[in-house]
Amino acid sequence: MKKIGIMTTGGDCSGLNTAIHRIIQGARQRKWQVWGILDGTDGLYVNPPAVIRLDDMMLPIENARLAGSFLHNGRADALNFETAAETGRIASFNKRLHKSLQELALDALILIGGNGSLSLAWANRGTYRDVQLICIPKTIDMDMPLTERTIGFDTAVQQLTQFCDQLLLTARSHHRWFVVQAMGRDCGYLALHAGIASGASAILMPEIRFNIDDLVKRISDADTDYGIIMVSEGITLRGHSGRPADMISRKLNAAGITNRTAFPEHIQRAGDTTASDRILATRFADCALNAIENGETYVMTALECGDVHTVGLSDFVASGECISDPHIPELLTSNAYITPDEPLLSVARDMGIYIGEIK
Ligand code: F6P
Repeated sequence: MKKIGIMTTGGDCSGLNTAIHRIIQGARQRKWQVWGILDGTDGLYVNPPAVIRLDDMMLPIENARLAGSFLHNGRADALNFETAAETGRIASFNKRLHKSLQELALDALILIGGNGSLSLAWANRGTYRDVQLICIPKTIDMDMPLTERTIGFDTAVQQLTQFCDQLLLTARSHHRWFVVQAMGRDCGYLALHAGIASGASAILMPEIRFNIDDLVKRISDADTDYGIIMVSEGITLRGHSGRPADMISRKLNAAGITNRTAFPEHIQRAGDTTASDRILATRFADCALNAIENGETYVMTALECGDVHTVGLSDFVASGECISDPHIPELLTSNAYITPDEPLLSVARDMGIYIGEIK
């Protein structure tokens, strides 16, 4: 009988509970024992480790669709890989985590995390040397290399789309535009997908250069006087500061275009998990359990051309664009972005949606 652990780290998203539920479900078929680590790496840092034995009763099926993580993702003020490195305590932090894993006598640990969590797990891989480390990618940002989908993205698109759907009704009543600021960090996928889904008139993404005068002209010349202008939180406007939606809104105001800003914020990480995210979470959970059975370690589950399989964490960190932590340059995160060959870009352009200049 194997003993496995589950840990959720980084920002939450909808679909984490489905993944946890399906891991428990699949482990039961194999007669394995499952332990949940509470509050991400903090659950391994505290002494004794903060863990709970997971069985079907703890996470009933009707709760598996709820957003957030039943195991928590960690407190903002807790020591983690980043803050430990920043304050010169990384060696003792890693030592404590390793000791906890030994005390728990886990055969395998399933880490459900984003690009930061997985990159940091690889950078500090010695900590996991005595367990099989299997990672499952999750994030609403869709900024992870080597997988075409991450858990939580589809639900975030749905949440943001519904938010825009509601705004459009009041926008129409008052003949005004809404500048909606999407999350996604430096990646425009969420803005692009929800923008297309909600019928936005313009979508601004960090990866695509745009011209503010062209945008203003496009909106002024539009054959409608209301609609959505989707703005990714990662865009910048030379010579301007403040929140991206506010910057764009000010420019529209200056041109006499009546508009308001709207900030869906963390609602994008909430919401009942969509069927698509539940299926992905189930496939990733199954793949992770199979990987444990096959004796794999330091791998991540990935979706590629409809197939779910594992890829090495070393390949994952090598294939993204490496971004340095602002405080600790040697801490690199593997990031992915929209590329010019993204099919939705040409679809948007063909539909007359202003997206800037794709080369
Ligand atoms: O990475 C997920 C994400 O939701 C980003 O899209 C967003 O910029 C950030 O996390 C928000 O972080 P916090 O929850 O710390 O405000």
